[in-house]
Amino acid sequence: MDRFYVTTPIYYVNDEPHIGHAFTTLNADAVARWHRMLGEDVFFLTGTDEHGLKIQRAAEENGLSPLEQADRTSVRFKEAWRSLNISNDDFIRTTEPRHHVAVQQLLQRCYDNGYIERGTYEGSYCVSCEAYYTDDELGEDRTCPIHKRPVEHMVEDNYFFKLSAFEDRLTDWLTNSPDAITPDGYRKEALGLIRQGLEDISISRTSIDWGVPVPWDDGHVFYVWYDALINYATAVGFGSDDARFEQWWPATHHMLGKDILRFHCVYWPAMLLAAGIEDLPTYHVHGFLLVSGEKMSKTSFNKISPTAMVEEFGVDGFRYALLRDHSFGPDSDFSYESMLSRYNSDLANTFGNLLQRVTTIVGKKCGGVAPAPRVDSPVADKAATAIAETIAGWAKFQAASGLDATWRLAREANELLSETEPWKLEPGPEVDAILGDALEALRIVALLGAPAMPEAMAAAWARLGLPGRPEEQRIADAAVWGQYPGGVTLPEGEPLFPRLKAT
Ligand code: MSP
Repeated sequence: MDRFYVTTPIYYVNDEPHIGHAFTTLNADAVARWHRMLGEDVFFLTGTDEHGLKIQRAAEENGLSPLEQADRTSVRFKEAWRSLNISNDDFIRTTEPRHHVAVQQLLQRCYDNGYIERGTYEGSYCVSCEAYYTDDELGEDRTCPIHKRPVEHMVEDNYFFKLSAFEDRLTDWLTNSPDAITPDGYRKEALGLIRQGLEDISISRTSIDWGVPVPWDDGHVFYVWYDALINYATAVGFGSDDARFEQWWPATHHMLGKDILRFHCVYWPAMLLAAGIEDLPTYHVHGFLLVSGEKMSKTSFNKISPTAMVEEFGVDGFRYALLRDHSFGPDSDFSYESMLSRYNSDLANTFGNLLQRVTTIVGKKCGGVAPAPRVDSPVADKAATAIAETIAGWAKFQAASGLDATWRLAREANELLSETEPWKLEPGPEVDAILGDALEALRIVALLGAPAMPEAMAAAWARLGLPGRPEEQRIADAAVWGQYPGGVTLPEGEPLFPRLKAT
């Protein structure tokens, strides 16, 4: 069975979950669900990043120990993901012993292979980014280009990773694997960073002790980023179960925001190569969700909590509108108004109305017993196109384009009803044919829409009188026109997506 290993970044525990974090996690969840429906063996990982100065300072401000701070916030992320029905198979915390073992082993290997050396570092450091910046990267008045806050001058005696040794191998990898980083603009961005020249990077700290100790030198802990990246290897057995790691690692897909591209797409593959791991991950990078043109962040006071959105739109309404409205790649403006109009147009109107209308007419014209679709239906070709485009969209990790293609089929079925007006016709074969086609279109939309809206589409499935859940089906078998069985009695029910008014 094909394997598919998908990850989100692990989130810092100084911040509460907001819809920016939810965007990555939801996309990863939907992609994981899609691959399960393809029949693949899926492992889906998310978690929290708990070491480093940023967390230590947040803990101090809150009068907590760093571990107490991490315990409290990590739970908030777990709760947020539960409330969004995230189907992760594991939740990793970097403070767990399994992770310490993996970090020490992986970096010890880099050290033994001659890629880590001692030296002194001096530079401008942003605590919020947990990153050093060169002078030309700084903003006005020596501020962090992302957080717009003053950077700190740091001088440290520490260990350096010989990133410069990997320039050629990284360039070859990104030049020869056109799908290594998608969308392609981000592959070019990573190549550009490498072509500017790679300097060795400082990977340990003596100024703090909240981190994983460097195994060969007691006074140092690893810098948080080099500990954090290794979480992806820890969770599939690195350092504890070699056979498991070898099975899963070649199937790794990292989903992440563009803010952390350099760490993921340049530093991390170099670390893997330095440790003798030749299989490099595949990357899927997205832009920022912007609120009034600004990135959502703790420092901008513009964060929107996923819980508030679930209260407005329901879990699946929120999941759908977020996935459908913001394609995976460019920056995208988030607004309540556009979420509302997406919900009302696609869910309340297009899908919800269709389901309600069809089941009502089946009640009136067919004695409540659903007819079967036509094999040679005028909708069949359009369905085949919608299915192919849906599959292509998800294959590219583009939930928005997959869902767009699926919803085209729902609109086709609505048009079929508007053109033929079966409610005006006498009961008989013509009405049966139209309704059978509409029911089949609904079945296919519920099937293909399930990764975005697992519960709502399961409810729709039941309303179509179908057994089981759409997520239990295999795409290759079930996404083919003509399978709606007909002959089933349709249960009655309330609209699945009641129309919402602006609040
Ligand atoms: N802890 C590091 C990641 C380590 S992974 C080995 C980190 N954490 S974070 O909490 O700041 O989360 C960053 C990720 O959250 C981004 O890469 C992105 O996936 C998501 N987002 C945070 N804000 C976002 C937006 N405003 N818009 C979209 N995604 C955003 O960096």
